[in-house]
Amino acid sequence: MPQKISQNNDEKAASTPPRPFEPRLKIVSRVATHAETIRFIMDEIEMRYGIVPSASLSAKLLKAFEHLPLAEFDEWADHMSNLSAADPQWLNLVAGLSTQETYFNRHPGLLNRLRNKIFPELIERAEKDGSYQVRILAVGCATGEEAYDLSFLLLEALHEAGHATLDAGGAIVVQPPWSIEVIGSDVSRQAMEIGAAAIYSDHWLGSFQGINQKMWRFFEGAQAPREDWVPGARYWQVKHFARRHVRFQHCNPIAGVPPVTDCDLTVCRDIMAYFDGEGWPKAQQMLAGSLKPGAVLVLAEAGNWKLETHRQREIAS
Ligand SMILES: C[S@@+](CC[C@H](N)C(=O)[O-])C[C@H]1O[C@@H](n2cnc3c(N)ncnc32)[C@H](O)[C@@H]1O
Repeated sequence: MPQKISQNNDEKAASTPPRPFEPRLKIVSRVATHAETIRFIMDEIEMRYGIVPSASLSAKLLKAFEHLPLAEFDEWADHMSNLSAADPQWLNLVAGLSTQETYFNRHPGLLNRLRNKIFPELIERAEKDGSYQVRILAVGCATGEEAYDLSFLLLEALHEAGHATLDAGGAIVVQPPWSIEVIGSDVSRQAMEIGAAAIYSDHWLGSFQGINQKMWRFFEGAQAPREDWVPGARYWQVKHFARRHVRFQHCNPIAGVPPVTDCDLTVCRDIMAYFDGEGWPKAQQMLAGSLKPGAVLVLAEAGNWKLETHRQREIAS
């Protein structure tokens, strides 16, 4: 049986915040400007979530807060500085600031490789080791499209391998003793709520802008989940046979603790740019902790991100 990677370090990290922070003392005599307070907020965000201060982040904050009188803005900044990373006020702010761009069938080259090469290998291995189980983690999956893509493709691969059947309605049904599980995680709880509902709209072509004809088999028409959703848009829900294999679990990668362990595959696509020099080792620790030995890690992003050598050894052994 595959061995589980020791979680000792992760457990330690779970009991401590990413980096210690002291409540900020209110500096009554300070004469701040909007720009200074924005810089302060960016530092507080970096400390809690590892998101690097940048010109675009600064511009977003300025747009959000420039209408506030400086004294009020400053008071709010003081208030926020006393709240932990897990506080909903911070989580909502970060969710609003993060780019949650995602859609079905994003990066089809990568998905094709997973479907045609990696998934058949994972299935073969699960058959050989007698676990008959494939578990996948999608880190930073935003509103869930990526997690569902992975479940669609894994179901197809399982069907192709003869471990799932097609029922009369076209549903792909996994045959016992096989089980598959895709866990989507994100720092934004709001995004994950959308993922859990699995209802997406074609507004501005959002979630469906990259979809191909074949993929519509996984969707059925749905009601808008909230009345305030965009009028005129159409909605689709991921069909039950596919969404039953997907669940969502909150995770802030720079806490260093994976949301789940013993994964056969962890995909981390288009989120590494959010981590700075101190956040990245913690995120690596989290990624390594999520995998079982010999599992596959996909880091997909423009940029030159490399896994530290000792993490590579940790995953391989
Ligand atoms: C551009 S989206 C990528 C979505 C998806 N992985 C994809 O490739 O389609 C970036 C996601 O990273 C998440 N994110 C940003 N900073 C994060 C952090 N410090 N910890 C965890 N997730 C973060 C955001 O909430 C957002 O959902």
